[in-house]
Amino acid sequence: MEPLILSIDTSCDETSVAITCGRRVLSNIVSSQINIHKKYGGVFPALAKRAHEERIDFVVQEALERSGVIANFSLRQKRGLKSAITNKFQIDAIAVTYGPGLAIALEVGIRKAKELTSTLSLSRSSTLNLIAVDHMEGHIYSTLAQNAMGNPKNEVIFPAICILVSGGHTELVLMENHGKYKVLGSTLDDACGEALDKAAKILKLGYPGGPIIERLAEEYCTDCNSGLQSARRLKSATTNFTLTPPLREKINLNFSYSGLKTQFLYLVNSLSEKDFNENLLELAFTFQSAAFEQLIRKTANAIKIHHPRAIISGGGVLANKKLRTLLRKLAKDNNLPVFFPTGKKLNGDNAAMIGVAAYYKFLRKEFVQDIDSLDRIPRLQLS
Ligand code: KG4
Ligand code: ZN
Repeated sequence: MEPLILSIDTSCDETSVAITCGRRVLSNIVSSQINIHKKYGGVFPALAKRAHEERIDFVVQEALERSGVIANFSLRQKRGLKSAITNKFQIDAIAVTYGPGLAIALEVGIRKAKELTSTLSLSRSSTLNLIAVDHMEGHIYSTLAQNAMGNPKNEVIFPAICILVSGGHTELVLMENHGKYKVLGSTLDDACGEALDKAAKILKLGYPGGPIIERLAEEYCTDCNSGLQSARRLKSATTNFTLTPPLREKINLNFSYSGLKTQFLYLVNSLSEKDFNENLLELAFTFQSAAFEQLIRKTANAIKIHHPRAIISGGGVLANKKLRTLLRKLAKDNNLPVFFPTGKKLNGDNAAMIGVAAYYKFLRKEFVQDIDSLDRIPRLQLS
């Protein structure tokens, strides 16, 4: 019987709790704070912490109820969360993200994980295990999550090159085996998702910017090549605007996005209001193309240097269809399989990916030894 794990992720602006059984996701509740943060054009840490605190108990209850592992579990149960999970629910471990992320946001999840671990331990003869998971490891394992029926049955082949692209991170990681990582390169300034969010702000669009830029860029391709199938349109579109790609040296596997953003700001500021309005779609397309060109070029370099047997991708930006198409092509050109997060919810931040990563740690018996001393590590690095 595979272990049943309750996992929590509060690393940024999503309050998420999941129940997993091995790699199978039984429930994965994500309570998004986008509506709170969008007026600031980015995440406001103090508001994120407060929202996590307000929502965490409800999200735990919801995850338990939706998982189907507890018969007749009721959200409105008078006895409350503690007695409900103590009396009716046998889980094998609690898992929690301890970094990287916003310090005061991580803290909320860690506190709840400790509280659940000790509450549940009281009803057993032995202490329940607590598993601390690196958020980026979670993004890697989002590619191995399965539905409740145990699909897909994919297995990673090692070594694998992982390209992780989110609002807080852009990094290339060599994964030599389960739990064995070497960071090959990461962003020297802004993350790719953050850059897309900033570019959207420059274009006076909403937040988060990535999906809006994607929509406009797609529309630009449709307009300039009407009549073709969408994948071909995306391939053949070009732009009259130029942005100079940063860090072109082959050997360097780091990323940089702040220079690109500044170039983009100058470009947009140089346009008249009429030109700005008439070229909005093309501007979005230009920025997205430059942002993704860097991701693909660096991943291609990493493949040449490290000769992996697979590509793994993860993070919120992987929701982007164009980026997936580019990665598929890169994989095909190098005769490698490419793994993507296995469902829409698994692209962005969610606790199921933490649960799947925790499952492999459970198999290796990597448990937190001193539960009280587990602390957040906001700048945690995979190793
Ligand atoms: O992984 P994630 O949900 O949270 C972090 O850990 O940061 O990633 C959020 C980032 C945001 O910057 C957002 O604009 C970007 O992912 N994003 C996208 C798309 N959907 C979300 N970027 C490009 N295309 C998308 N469809
Ligand atoms: Zn993330």
